[in-house]
Amino acid sequence: MELSELYREVILTHATHPHHYGEIENPDKKAHGSNPLCGDSFDIEIKMDGDKISEISFIGAGCSISKASASMMTEMARGKTVKEFYDLLDKMEKLVRGELAEKDAEELGDLAALAGVSAFPVRVKCAILPWKTLKNAVEDDD
Ligand code: FES
Repeated sequence: MELSELYREVILTHATHPHHYGEIENPDKKAHGSNPLCGDSFDIEIKMDGDKISEISFIGAGCSISKASASMMTEMARGKTVKEFYDLLDKMEKLVRGELAEKDAEELGDLAALAGVSAFPVRVKCAILPWKTLKNAVEDDD
């Protein structure tokens, strides 16, 4: 199987069977994010354990790329400290903009499947949308 085909499958699997889809009870923080170009939007809720993202969920409607990105993000961000999440966010943004070294991309697991969007600027926004929303949730002070 070609790598691009494998990546397409990873994206479709996450998009059709997203992980941590739903709401969590009594979230500590949450945020809503939308893409003005298409109207797709996500709501992300998290629970914190000190400095750690202990639980995370999302709901929303989006294209396959944004939904798959949200699903993979929940897998990767769960259990991370805020600082670790920011490092991950930085790598993820570089990945989808085609600026991440190959060896760093390998550490990103399934997320590497999103590297192909770097050739399509509109899709870069799709991939980043859930991540920006989680960043806003982490910074939610309410
Ligand atoms: Fe709307 Fe991708 S087309 S987020």
